[in-house]
Amino acid sequence: MARSHWSQWHDAYKDPSSALSARLNEVRRQLREVLGHSTTESPRLISMCAGQGRDVIDVLATHPRGHSVHARLVELDESLAAEVAASARDRGLANVEIVNGDASIASAYVGFVPADIIMVCGVFGNLSEIDIARTIFLLPSLCAPAARVIWTRHRRAPDVTNVIRAMFLESGFAEFEFFAPRDLLFTVATHQLHRAPDPFEEDIRLFTFEGDGHDPA
Ligand SMILES: C[S@@+](CC[C@H](N)C(=O)[O-])C[C@H]1O[C@@H](n2cnc3c(N)ncnc32)[C@H](O)[C@@H]1O
Repeated sequence: MARSHWSQWHDAYKDPSSALSARLNEVRRQLREVLGHSTTESPRLISMCAGQGRDVIDVLATHPRGHSVHARLVELDESLAAEVAASARDRGLANVEIVNGDASIASAYVGFVPADIIMVCGVFGNLSEIDIARTIFLLPSLCAPAARVIWTRHRRAPDVTNVIRAMFLESGFAEFEFFAPRDLLFTVATHQLHRAPDPFEEDIRLFTFEGDGHDPA
């Protein structure tokens, strides 16, 4: 069976010198920082559009607090969802749940909200600017108090990194981590909710995913 574009997009992770691998290393570093700062006994983690889950699985399997995390990874592509499920199983992560479904509707997170950690990696590069804003303004409805959101965005022209940072501030988050290397066109950042969360509404659409995996995200 032919591999999907999204499955092929992940091949860049096999090259440790690729920009995508550099981005992955930074996402993992920021997730470790977030876990190190978490005061919640069993943090709840959501990963939207999780792909192979390389960012989450490796950190949960190796961090001293990793096995205390209850995680839900939502991925639409069946083969990628199967890969991440196998990887969670192989690493002995009994508290990691993989949902092969649509991450763009809030109902995907029923039972896992309010979440302490939300991963939005490889997503904003595939949304319109209006939907990036919509997602960021709806994120507080998925968040526990002081939740942290780890996000990525490419920095190819037109670079909207600073627009996204401003949206997070306006939505009630403060910047916890920010990494945008000069030589590689990506940003990895963590924002922390600095106001009361909003009520959860399970029927809300957060975004419409537009990318098809042909361009890096
Ligand atoms: C750029 S990749 C990012 C994967 C992973 N988060 C990472 O950073 O390595 C985008 C992923 O979103 C998935 N995807 C696209 N639309 C989706 C949707 N509506 N719900 C869940 N996953 C979706 C694709 O199958 C793909 O695996």
